[in-house]
Amino acid sequence: MSEASAEKRLFTQWPNNRILVAPSLLAAHYERLLEDVTAVEKAGAEVLHLDIMDGHFVPNLSFGADLVKALRPVSQMLFDVHLMITDPIKYAPRFKDAGADHITFHVEVEQNAGEVIDFIHSLGCTAGISLRPGTSYEAIMPYLDKVEMVLVMTVEPGFGGQSFHAEQLPKIETLRKAIDATGKPIRLEVDGGIAQASAELVRKAGADVLVAGSSVFRAKDGDYKKAIDILR
Ligand code: DX5
Ligand code: ZN
Repeated sequence: MSEASAEKRLFTQWPNNRILVAPSLLAAHYERLLEDVTAVEKAGAEVLHLDIMDGHFVPNLSFGADLVKALRPVSQMLFDVHLMITDPIKYAPRFKDAGADHITFHVEVEQNAGEVIDFIHSLGCTAGISLRPGTSYEAIMPYLDKVEMVLVMTVEPGFGGQSFHAEQLPKIETLRKAIDATGKPIRLEVDGGIAQASAELVRKAGADVLVAGSSVFRAKDGDYKKAIDILR
């Protein structure tokens, strides 16, 4: 086991009622990536959201485990890997070895969701299950009390910088109630188009981990702390 993977970073290290902010690396300035990662951590971000795309599950490519590995030594943030790929079982170990703390996969993939969750846990990571805007909350209900996080996509996955889908708010409310009914500290993350106004809506609906790409890394004045504070 590598040194990075021996350290345990869990969502339960923060009080359950604390809103966590997870800047998405996809929107960072790649020409100064390490500085950007250090800067959002200094600005108060608890979580770094890492979007992995395979050009198949979504019509775009992003980056792979080697990049995650290069970032691990420079950050203490919880590394939240969002797998937008058709074969999470094949690739999850590479992200664990690279330093992922948490791995989310999509319920729409053809693999058995219960088996994917068990597999992610067997690696020593916490597990998350995500659903596209067009997928009903019912698809993930059988797995709710097996995961540490549910990720509601508030845009169609694949690209940063899209507009927030407000019609996802009832789904967030429904899942918040279902999570509370389990009595477990399951985090409810939202991803896509999160900025000041949408952040307020999703917080009211019950989301407690806010992924934000453009609104943080592309903040007009480049003030990451202000951009993060505004979301909470
Ligand atoms: C989209 C990704 C998001 C994306 C969010 O498929 O899952 O994490 O980076 O970007 P913004 O916040 O710009 O919508
Ligand atoms: Zn994402």
